[in-house]
Amino acid sequence: MSENAPEPGLTVAVTGPTGEIGIAFLQALERSERVAVVRGMARRPFDPGSKGLSKTEYVQGDVLDREAIDRLVDGADVVVHLAFLIFGDPEQSREINLTGSRNVFEATAAAGSKRLVYTSSVAAYGFHASNPLPLHEDLGPAGTEDFYYSAQKAELEATLRESLEGTEVEAYVFRPSIVGGPDSPALVTNVPYVGTPSLVPSAVRALLDRLPQPGPVILDPGTPMQIVHADDVADALVKAVEGVGVPGCYNLAAEGEFTMSDLARELGWRSVPVPDLAVDLTAALVKRLPAMPSQAAWIQTARISVVMDTTRARDVLGWQPRHDATATLRATVEGAQAAGLVTATGRRGS
Ligand SMILES: NC(=O)c1ccc[n+]([C@@H]2O[C@H](COP(=O)([O-])OP(=O)(O)OC[C@H]3O[C@@H](n4cnc5c(N)ncnc54)[C@H](OP(=O)(O)O)[C@@H]3O)[C@@H](O)[C@H]2O)c1
Repeated sequence: MSENAPEPGLTVAVTGPTGEIGIAFLQALERSERVAVVRGMARRPFDPGSKGLSKTEYVQGDVLDREAIDRLVDGADVVVHLAFLIFGDPEQSREINLTGSRNVFEATAAAGSKRLVYTSSVAAYGFHASNPLPLHEDLGPAGTEDFYYSAQKAELEATLRESLEGTEVEAYVFRPSIVGGPDSPALVTNVPYVGTPSLVPSAVRALLDRLPQPGPVILDPGTPMQIVHADDVADALVKAVEGVGVPGCYNLAAEGEFTMSDLARELGWRSVPVPDLAVDLTAALVKRLPAMPSQAAWIQTARISVVMDTTRARDVLGWQPRHDATATLRATVEGAQAAGLVTATGRRGS
């Protein structure tokens, strides 16, 4: 091929393309001139045409089914692994997340694809007060043992390295903060809040009793948090698909930070500042409620700051997030309200 001849269009295989990041990513791939064909696979039915996606072919399949993955990645130049169970029973999530991801990593190595793109998470660093802030990519993913999601994300980065060892596959690993946007309601639909004061420990109840009227309340330990718009995550993933910069690990977060009180304000709810101890007590209590252990685990994330430095993605990939934290938080809440998932009096189904 002469130096100026265009590279043939890329074939990209995507697991979990129907999720919060996945749909935004398919739309970004549609706009990439380097991408010719996109093959997606997840368990639910999905019609790419309904989203105006002309490059995307979709099959239903499970990442626990190695043969289905082998078919998906066969002949793919790039494999992007998004399939994951974020909220759920820790045991069930272990199987999908650890076994399923290992299947995808090993199938990619066996298929000899050029690149593997994987969305890890800020949670891979673990929630440790001793971590130096802001977090840089060279800090190893230590995870937090008693928070299933964080522990799995840390373990999987090691699994990925192990699966690709001795192969030519280039790995791009992203560690996004919480993802938001009009079609990404997970922050709002999973934020722990108090709708029933009788369910909180007496120390917290005393704080709530001082508030003027009834209504949902978010406990705010004051920890600064980051968020990133799904469209901006999608842009970063496309850069990896196209082989921009160098393979490696990249933090992703929008400019600026927010607190739980900012989220409560956007929702038209109330917040109450609480010391760490009250959050711990609430987490311990929520853990004992039937069917809520995973929510309890997530309460821990509000306690310890895991603010990341995103200079590497900006400098090496030329990533320029278009949405700052305030705009992304607002878009997330407005999207959830428009979808009827949340109102001024609480969350649907809570
Ligand atoms: N959203 C965030 O705030 C955030 C932040 C940091 C990192 N991340 C990471 O980014 C990735 C994508 O997240 P997301 O927000 O897009 O998640 P999501 O909205 O929960 O979507 C998960 C996707 O995985 C698919 N999936 C789940 N189990 C599967 C299985 N057994 N086989 C095949 N597909 C399966 C789902 O489709 P079906 O259910 O139909 O199978 C869906 O397409 C995950 O690795 C997540 O940990 C997300």
